[in-house]
Amino acid sequence: MKDLTPKRDDLDPIEIASRDEISALQLKRLKWSLKHAYDNVPFYRQSFDTAGVHPDDVTSLADLARFPFTMKQDLRNNYPFGMFAVPRDQVSRIHASSGTTGKPTVVGYTKNDLDVWANVMARTMRAAGTRPGDVVHVAYGYGLFTGGLGAHYGAERLGCTVVPVSGGMTPRQVTLIEDFGATTIMVTPSYMLSILDEYRAQGRDPRESSLEVGIFGAEPWTNAMRAEIEQAFDMHAVDLFGLSEIMGPGVASECVETKDGLHIWEDHFYPEIINPETGELVEDGEMGELVFTSLSKEAFPIIRYRTRDLTRLLPGTARSMRRMEKITGRTDDMIILRGVNVFPTQIEEQVLKIATLSPHFQIRLERKGRMDAMTILCEAMAESAGGDERGAAARDLAHHIKQMVGVSVTVDVAKPGGVARSQGKAVRIIDERPKK
Ligand code: DLL
Repeated sequence: MKDLTPKRDDLDPIEIASRDEISALQLKRLKWSLKHAYDNVPFYRQSFDTAGVHPDDVTSLADLARFPFTMKQDLRNNYPFGMFAVPRDQVSRIHASSGTTGKPTVVGYTKNDLDVWANVMARTMRAAGTRPGDVVHVAYGYGLFTGGLGAHYGAERLGCTVVPVSGGMTPRQVTLIEDFGATTIMVTPSYMLSILDEYRAQGRDPRESSLEVGIFGAEPWTNAMRAEIEQAFDMHAVDLFGLSEIMGPGVASECVETKDGLHIWEDHFYPEIINPETGELVEDGEMGELVFTSLSKEAFPIIRYRTRDLTRLLPGTARSMRRMEKITGRTDDMIILRGVNVFPTQIEEQVLKIATLSPHFQIRLERKGRMDAMTILCEAMAESAGGDERGAAARDLAHHIKQMVGVSVTVDVAKPGGVARSQGKAVRIIDERPKK
């Protein structure tokens, strides 16, 4: 793999500024953001008033902890435009996240917000090793989802040649990567695995492809998956995090030279970690739920938004800005099986240990009598794998999961292609338990 470390001179000065400089900028922007929300969004005025807090009382970053949280339900209650802080005719673009139930969450951007977004996405891509002039293949979905357009405008801002493919039509993805000589691909890690299958189906060697960097996110994925993809394509695989409510992709991202967790672009997004049960702040370094406050957004300021994502904050390394550890999972994706907490990422790590299994998997939950039962649906790597080989892989995986995760599961190993594929975010859990 090539050394793609960006030159220090090419970074935004704030990326390598002193902590004091970063904190001073954050405090100035935080005061503005709280006041902007309070003055222009009835929801925030009411929630701050109820909590007895006022933006004018803020004198330090720690004062933010006195402000109330914002939840997904608050955004739903104000559907569609009730959380906007500018008149609708100043909103240049709308995005929305579908969610599994109820109404979508609608977010808006002014021209200035779109400009900031393009800048932080360009910063993200530079950190990943993409350079001006590169051909960037965008296979995140275009549309209301923030992935496609977020990546698109970042790549343009960095000075790249953008190929706006969106998700789907996997054979064509491979043809376009090869014909146009893409050096960067931006896609969910699970869909990258489908693209990998397609390379093999077409008899092409993925290690011979022009790709040098993959910028993967929108769903949890493990370091084991990183190793799998890097090895298969002989390319760098870096992590990209974001969520619509905070902006979209580009809230935090990994640096290609360290790949040690995601630097949060703290000049625009202020992170906190809380205990998800009590709502109390925890120290940097401790695991908990990630909470974000926007520092510069005009159309859709967001204060102390509870993401439900579980991680911890770590000091900066390749940049001065703090890092968040690769996400383990979401509070709402945590399965409690006979008293043991299980995240799909833990299963992923174990699946990737078995060489005869492909990396695709799903988890089925059922109720058997009074007990919940978990079946791991996975598939053999080789078409030629017979019943004996598949049986051995199933026993191995069940054994590893029992040892490492601490739960007994059933494993079903299908033929290659037997596990459902996604073209965007993978569906990891099929919950067939009766609804309460
Ligand atoms: O997924 C934005 C995005 C697009 C990020 C492309 C990265 C790349 P939403 O659809 O609003 O936005 O979903 C946000 O996805 O709260 C996390 O649970 C999850 N997520 C996003 N990135 C990562 C990641 C986009 N790198 C939700 N690792 C978030 C783990 C992630 N989970």
